[in-house]
Amino acid sequence: MLIDIQLPRRVRNIHVKKMAPASALLVNLLFLFYGLGILMTVVEAASNVHIVYLGEKQHDDPKLITNSHHDMLADVVGSKELASQLIVYSYKHGFSGFAAKLTESQAQKLAELPGVVRVIPNSLHKLQTTRSWDFLGLSSYSPVNALQRSNMGDGVIIGVFDTGIWPESKAFSDEGLGPIPFRWKGVCKSGKQFNATLNCNKKIIGARWYIDGFLAEYGKPLNTSEDLEFLSPRDANGHGTHTASTAAGAFIRNVSYKGLGPGTIRGGAPRARLAIYKVCWNVFGGQCSSADMLKAFDEAIYDGVDVLSLSIGSSIPLFSDIDERDGIATGSFHAVARGITVVCGAANDGPSAQTVQNTAPWILTVAASTMDRAFPTPITLGNNKTFLGQAMFTGKEIGFRGLVYPEASGLDPNAAGVCQSLSLNATLVAGKVVLCFTSMARRAAVTSAAEVVKAAGGVGLIVAKNPSDALYPCSGDFPCVEVDYEIGTRILFYIRSNRSPAVKLSHSKTIVGNPLLPKVAYFSSRGPNSIAPAILKPDITAPGVNILAATSPLDRFEDNGYAMHSGTSMATPHVSGIVALLKALHPDWSPAAIKSALVTTAWRNHPSGYPIFAEGSPQKLANPFDFGGGIANPNGAADPGLLYDMDTADYIHYLCVMGYNNAAISRLTGQPTECPSKEPSILDVNLPSLTIPNLRKSITLTRTVTNAGAPNSIYRAVIEPPFGIIVSVKPDVLLFSNQTKKINFTVTINATHQVNTGYYFGSLSWTDGIHMVKSPLSVRTEMLQPYASDN
Ligand SMILES: *[C@@H]1O[C@H](CO)[C@@H](O)[C@H](O)[C@H]1NC(C)=O
Ligand SMILES: *[C@@H]1O[C@H](CO)[C@@H](O)[C@H](O)[C@H]1NC(C)=O
Ligand SMILES: *[C@@H]1O[C@H](CO)[C@@H](O)[C@H](O)[C@H]1NC(C)=O
Ligand SMILES: *[C@@H]1O[C@H](CO)[C@@H](O)[C@H](O)[C@H]1NC(C)=O
Ligand SMILES: *[C@@H]1O[C@H](CO)[C@@H](O)[C@H](O)[C@H]1NC(C)=O
Ligand SMILES: *[C@@H]1O[C@H](CO)[C@@H](O)[C@H](O)[C@H]1NC(C)=O
Ligand SMILES: *[C@@H]1O[C@H](CO)[C@@H](O)[C@H](O)[C@H]1NC(C)=O
Ligand SMILES: *[C@@H]1O[C@H](CO)[C@@H](O)[C@H](O)[C@H]1NC(C)=O
Repeated sequence: MLIDIQLPRRVRNIHVKKMAPASALLVNLLFLFYGLGILMTVVEAASNVHIVYLGEKQHDDPKLITNSHHDMLADVVGSKELASQLIVYSYKHGFSGFAAKLTESQAQKLAELPGVVRVIPNSLHKLQTTRSWDFLGLSSYSPVNALQRSNMGDGVIIGVFDTGIWPESKAFSDEGLGPIPFRWKGVCKSGKQFNATLNCNKKIIGARWYIDGFLAEYGKPLNTSEDLEFLSPRDANGHGTHTASTAAGAFIRNVSYKGLGPGTIRGGAPRARLAIYKVCWNVFGGQCSSADMLKAFDEAIYDGVDVLSLSIGSSIPLFSDIDERDGIATGSFHAVARGITVVCGAANDGPSAQTVQNTAPWILTVAASTMDRAFPTPITLGNNKTFLGQAMFTGKEIGFRGLVYPEASGLDPNAAGVCQSLSLNATLVAGKVVLCFTSMARRAAVTSAAEVVKAAGGVGLIVAKNPSDALYPCSGDFPCVEVDYEIGTRILFYIRSNRSPAVKLSHSKTIVGNPLLPKVAYFSSRGPNSIAPAILKPDITAPGVNILAATSPLDRFEDNGYAMHSGTSMATPHVSGIVALLKALHPDWSPAAIKSALVTTAWRNHPSGYPIFAEGSPQKLANPFDFGGGIANPNGAADPGLLYDMDTADYIHYLCVMGYNNAAISRLTGQPTECPSKEPSILDVNLPSLTIPNLRKSITLTRTVTNAGAPNSIYRAVIEPPFGIIVSVKPDVLLFSNQTKKINFTVTINATHQVNTGYYFGSLSWTDGIHMVKSPLSVRTEMLQPYASDN
């Protein structure tokens, strides 16, 4: 018997990758190509879509802008006709620029023209569904007070960039909704199996799609047969319907998933309106191109959305904040400059540190937590010992059956009970339940094992896997019960020590509330921010595990119109819905004010007083790099007391500190911008959090707070210093009045450590006795004087 199965398993994975269809390699390679910035010269001769970015628009007349794009391109390619053929998109509302098919030398020529900020190749993004993006889930967010007081977000418009929408779902009923907001300028566009007259209504007020950038990358036509995709806003995948209904779905009573977790489901802002921008296509789980997303930003800004919800990310290493290959960072800069809050997922690359994406300070970045719900499923062994697993088993119970573990034979450890590579002898398995082990946190490992067991005539599966991961359901009524390695090992001992081992699998039950506590999900990407460690990311956390919401009937895991999914993709629209409620309550709040309200009021402890943990190995108490401010508390955020506000000037401050040059920043902002000769400190960006990545002895930073409560208020500072850190605040009492709405204060942070430490965590709060305006404070000391050149 060989003990170490890690190496062979890895080899096996590589082997599997090689077997992927050629088209998969194409997308993967393109992805690597852009992601890692290598192989640039290989495609010299070919034309590829490039984004020619011109910064803030110079005219208000969109026709003039488009003409200027054509003229510019014609100068380079030789004729206006050719230019018209090559242009994929003209960006003219939110900012100026265009996407066009260009050879490298044409791109080079354009890049040298005056007025061109930069020319960059288009790139592809992935949808953020955890690992395989199709787990199981259940939603239960109920911001009652803010929900009622905001009239459930009525009139607020949430734009969703995703895989489109399944408009027939009850989640998008417009029953009882008032007219479409007058200011709305967007359109609902008919296409394949999508009739604008029938499919848009007072809930789905806009719907269109963007595919040209994607197709240019994909390099061949999209296969639209067998309902694989629709050239229209219709959702062939389910992800877009799930996220849109989570953000703003109407109330639907008596919904359950296979009888589990029954109840009423709804979106965060059930009376908000939806504008659907389909930018992701149903290829390899969902692929979205930067060129398409920039076009969607451009039009959404013009259309009049209030909130944008993007459950989309790229991959590490990240592009800089002003690099349009990212698409999201630049597009969202323009949106935020116009008061639109942009909510993005943190990505699903946790629990490792520095994996958080969408890190620009103007974005609201969302981590995912579990909820206080579980689905215990009794596993009774032939010796009458019962263990509790987790499953969504509501099918027929079949009493005691034989139980087998496929033992390793010969020298190939892969022949043993590894779920993702099971090979079973039907004679041994028929009519029995199989136990297997997996280290892969993927639904595919569970579902493929279930297929193999079913094919061999087995009647059930017990999967031993990392406990801190989402639940993976099996399709149909086939029981797939998950246990942790400890229980899995005890079941294995039982099998090995019995001549005829047997097991009985019972129905799953739903339990809700205490004693279950929410945790930051295993997969949720973690800080620190790899672009700017002083800018705390993620910002906030919301439920993203086992979320039940409406989906497309073409979703593989659909049951009667609904599916449970997990990922920061699912957490993101929770926050988008909450932001819609806050917008309805406080139409004058900027995106930064909304972020501040969420961060400073978030739950760092469960309301029962227990701390919140973060899954991982090992599990630990959650810190700001796991959950930002904490788990979003909508009612608290509706009345935060004080706000740490920001506007474009603050983001320029940030861009200057990041070392972007004056010309690039000026183009981005549309104003001549000179960064101050004395570089400002990144620590002074007016965030609702304080993160000091390299404290040497002592540092002083400034913040400005704006009173958002009663005019005459007195706030006092409450400090919880991180371990070995001395924190003082000046002034430590803030007196607000009718005349004084904004007050500056400074925070001095001294280290008593004489060594390099990891991060220690504390907080700085302001309280008037009613509100508690709490900022997470994270400090790492760096005593590198002998080596540092700048000290
Ligand atoms: C869309 O639906 C309307 C209303 O039923 C109908 O009049 C129209 O012909 C439909 N359009 C298409 C292209 O089917
Ligand atoms: C499109 O997909 C279907 C189903 O997978 C397949 O049968 C068909 O050959 C594909 N068409 C093309 C043009 O690839
Ligand atoms: C709820 O749904 C179940 C199954 O779909 C159905 O049997 C039951 O009658 C419904 N209950 C109500 C109150 O509508
Ligand atoms: C298990 O429990 C059942 C019912 O309580 C009993 O009939 C049976 O003998 C028990 N089996 C063992 C091995 O203890
Ligand atoms: C399956 O197991 C049976 C019984 O142990 C054995 O006779 C048979 O050869 C096995 N078949 C294969 C394909 O290994
Ligand atoms: C503050 O302003 C409010 C309304 O603007 C006014 O009613 C109130 O009298 C003012 N209070 C003071 C102390 O000036
Ligand atoms: C507060 O700080 C801001 C930015 O640092 C500065 O512009 C402003 O003048 C300060 N206000 C006061 C009252 O000191
Ligand atoms: C913090 O450090 C500064 C500069 O070294 C010093 O002036 C100040 O007294 C220190 N404050 C505390 C509370 O130790």
